[in-house]
Amino acid sequence: MAYYRQLGTVPPKRHTQHRDPDGHLYYEELMGEEGFSSDSSLLYHRGVPSAIVRSEVWELPDQARTPNHPLKPRHLKLHTLFEDGATADAVTGRRLILANSDVRIAYVVTGADPSPYYRNAIGDECVYVESGSGTVETLFGVLSYRAGDYVLIPRATTHRWVPGESSRLYPIEANSHIAPPKRYLSRYGQLLEHAPYCERDLHGPTEPFLVSAESEGGTDVEVLVKHRVGTLPGGVGGSRMTYATHPFDVVGWDGCLYPYTFNIEDYMPITGKVHQPPPVHQVFEGHNFVVCNFLPRKVDYHPLSIPVPYYHSNVDSDEVMFYVGGDYEARKGSGINIGSISLHPGGHAHGPQPSAIEASLGAEYFDESAVMVDTFAPLDLGEGGLAAEDPAYAWTWAGRGGDIAEGESDGGPAVFSNS
Ligand SMILES: [Fe+2]
Repeated sequence: MAYYRQLGTVPPKRHTQHRDPDGHLYYEELMGEEGFSSDSSLLYHRGVPSAIVRSEVWELPDQARTPNHPLKPRHLKLHTLFEDGATADAVTGRRLILANSDVRIAYVVTGADPSPYYRNAIGDECVYVESGSGTVETLFGVLSYRAGDYVLIPRATTHRWVPGESSRLYPIEANSHIAPPKRYLSRYGQLLEHAPYCERDLHGPTEPFLVSAESEGGTDVEVLVKHRVGTLPGGVGGSRMTYATHPFDVVGWDGCLYPYTFNIEDYMPITGKVHQPPPVHQVFEGHNFVVCNFLPRKVDYHPLSIPVPYYHSNVDSDEVMFYVGGDYEARKGSGINIGSISLHPGGHAHGPQPSAIEASLGAEYFDESAVMVDTFAPLDLGEGGLAAEDPAYAWTWAGRGGDIAEGESDGGPAVFSNS
């Protein structure tokens, strides 16, 4: 995120003395990416950021992965995972839906209790907020979040979720960094005119966040750390590290690395005379995957255009659509609804249900919202994905699955217009 910010107090020159009113030095920390060769920030701590007193194993939620074998398109109904008001913690309650060696997609419905302090040392997190609101407290400052936000949290940023209400969260955990697509950026990192959003839409912290001396009270503070462990399932391990001082002790920082939010309402969809391919809907990229969003928009205006997509064999990708808003009345037949995920794997053509093609002719507007993750490596199913699966989905194009009764028409487009 090559967009400079400065909060709180920093000395005029980096790596020089910065003292509190009593003359004590603050402790400078450089937090940087790619071995001192990419974006970084300098943070000034009251305490020593490496002062730990204990490290113990944190048993992560189930990280087991089941291959998509035999190969099938899948429909996962995430809203079946937390039913009857069940909630879980925003960090420890995440259920693994899909995963490969580049990215893990999870799902959790929170209550209003704060999460433990946490950081992901494996990669950046991009948490899509399906519903709910609250704050994310970080050592850089506090972010507010609301429905439709992507909350971007750089690798190794200590933070905790403080929901103001029950919140449905869709964490996309990378093994890399997550950033705007390079083609949207100038050679120096500014978002270009053809990009569907700009810096004004990215909301970082606005002031330092210091936990008061009273609440610090000299008490040790536990932080859950997700980190790389080569021999554990998925290469993912957890440790519970205890710090001698509170991690939220940064009096000031500056640089180009920090957490921020971006809301899908601020994404300006790019439309065309004929059907536009998914890359025009891209919002972020990580290593070996992209994040796109399909949002309410005018559609194709060629007199003979077909607004729904052609069948496509995206031979290099697995495609994950998470349906988050819009009018799904016209889509009965496949069982897809808000809260659904479709996984359309590489090596298998997919597209609209046959009846959706004729039904789309003449459409001028699509009222629908979905978040898509496309991965170049195949995705395995996590325990949450297996638990949420609708096993009939794979056969719906042939009219033999979903919620279609035998001998009955499906009544309309059964697959999302861009899937
Ligand atoms: Fe697709």
